[in-house]
Amino acid sequence: MLIKIKNSWDLSEKDVTSEEDFFSRRDFVKAAGIMGVGSAVNLMTPALAGAYQAETPPSGKYNGSDIKDEQTVLSAITSYNNFYEFGIEKDDPSKNAHSLVTKPWNITVDGHCENPGEYAVEDLVNFNALEERIYRMRCVEAWSMVIPWVGVSLSQVIEKLKPSLSARYIYFETLEDVEQMPGQARNIIQWPYREGLRMDEAMHPLSIMAVGLYGRTLENQNGAPLRLVVPWKYGFKGVKSIVKISFVEEKPNTSWMRLAPQEYGFFANVNPAVSHPRWSQASERRIGDFRRRKTLMFNGYGEMVAGLYDGMDLRRNY
Ligand code: MTE
Repeated sequence: MLIKIKNSWDLSEKDVTSEEDFFSRRDFVKAAGIMGVGSAVNLMTPALAGAYQAETPPSGKYNGSDIKDEQTVLSAITSYNNFYEFGIEKDDPSKNAHSLVTKPWNITVDGHCENPGEYAVEDLVNFNALEERIYRMRCVEAWSMVIPWVGVSLSQVIEKLKPSLSARYIYFETLEDVEQMPGQARNIIQWPYREGLRMDEAMHPLSIMAVGLYGRTLENQNGAPLRLVVPWKYGFKGVKSIVKISFVEEKPNTSWMRLAPQEYGFFANVNPAVSHPRWSQASERRIGDFRRRKTLMFNGYGEMVAGLYDGMDLRRNY
């Protein structure tokens, strides 16, 4: 059952355009395992640090933030993806991710917590308490979408696991299995994909574990069966198809930090004032739009999250 709870951080209904496909909320299926055989992926060896390609801003004026936030169409959300385990082109994940078997799916929990162990996704996520959260997603590559996620607060999951005070950070890993994830045959990044949050970020009510979008079970290319969504951070923090959660004392060394620490930091807060070394972050292209719009500090969620970073130099802690 999907329960829709409106919260102040949702984009308001009048600010989003309903997608025609957005219909079957009540029919939300608990978990759908899609099985199949992946096609072979023929990747060119990418320049490692250059794996992200920013879109070049066209000349001319930016659209201002007065532009309405329209919900991105479902077909774009499920066909324009970053999921390097299935290839580096935007349409590779939708073509190749059918080889991922998402049912059954277990998550290993370890580290500083009272309830470590092996959890089925249904034991970790309360499917009777699903909420819809319509969030902006800003990729570090300077494109963005508005996505109606379905999930639970990450804090609900964490409370179940009862971390101790020694847990200062939470760490996540994606599945590593080249049979199911053919893109892992190439060392695009050091597999498995790794991400992390400071515990106060993880406990913030905006942080969610998503299991669906547009009222449907997540497609594999979007990170089935469960992924992280932290809307004030660049999209790469949203680790997909999670198989491991650890409560740790030290700041985790995440995938993109390992690959290019001068380009990708641990915090990765959306910040139009801090350029990526190879492109500006001042504007973005909303998928479906032609013109660019200004990027908002903390992706527009500053009122709710800026306090997490009081006293921190956000230029140094990018
Ligand atoms: N998670 C894994 N495991 N592998 C990835 O390549 N890409 C990240 C993030 N999570 C990625 C990942 C990036 S760069 C972005 S922008 C978002 O997923 C994209 O999510 P979407 O494809 O569902 O829009």
